[in-house]
Amino acid sequence: MKQIIAPSILSADFANLQRDTEMINTSEADWFHVDVMDGVFVPNISFGFPVLKAVKKYAKKPLDVHLMIVNPEKYIQEFAKEGADIITVHYEACTHLHRVVQIIKDAGCKASVALNPHTSVSLLKDILVDLDMVLIMSVNPGFGGQQFIPQSLNKIVELRKLANETNPNLLIEVDGGVSISNIESLIKAGANAFVAGNAIFGASSPTEMIASMKNIDIN
Ligand code: DX5
Ligand code: ZN
Repeated sequence: MKQIIAPSILSADFANLQRDTEMINTSEADWFHVDVMDGVFVPNISFGFPVLKAVKKYAKKPLDVHLMIVNPEKYIQEFAKEGADIITVHYEACTHLHRVVQIIKDAGCKASVALNPHTSVSLLKDILVDLDMVLIMSVNPGFGGQQFIPQSLNKIVELRKLANETNPNLLIEVDGGVSISNIESLIKAGANAFVAGNAIFGASSPTEMIASMKNIDIN
């Protein structure tokens, strides 16, 4: 399977959201990555349902919704209703993670859990079998354009090993500081889905950057 590329619309031009959505539609990107921040779980506020709706109106690819919010279980049904295909909640934001994962699945979405840089992948051992994807945060969540934290690479290797035992089809997504210069090592480590904001929207040709990321072949 070729890697999944998910441009983060957090780095899009919000005054030209339709244009940037069309750019992703016509590119080789696979998903739209949608970062929802509440100013409580993370020290920043991004956007909520109105922006999700606006993207959904034009998006022709799945919406990969990353909830950086407390009490995500309160909003899952509404995110599903507004068009989320994959919903990621943070391990650190869920006391009853197993229940939250079931709520995501019952809402008809793929279930994913994100880990902050300080959270060990071993904590997911008993729930891995229930997940479609794990998102490894390779920066501290809250802002686009930050530097990749190198230790994230070891976490991907460890998670891939763990997944091989119980859930070999698990998708491993990496989010934060992903670029054309580190994506190859991340694929080799065992990740297969990549979020990129700054690397894509800051490129002179976002479409070409997406194609370059999509077509890296490690074999
Ligand atoms: C950060 C968000 C990321 C962000 C990535 O909290 O979860 O999705 O948009 O942006 P870059 O690729 O610029 O690090
Ligand atoms: Zn994200």
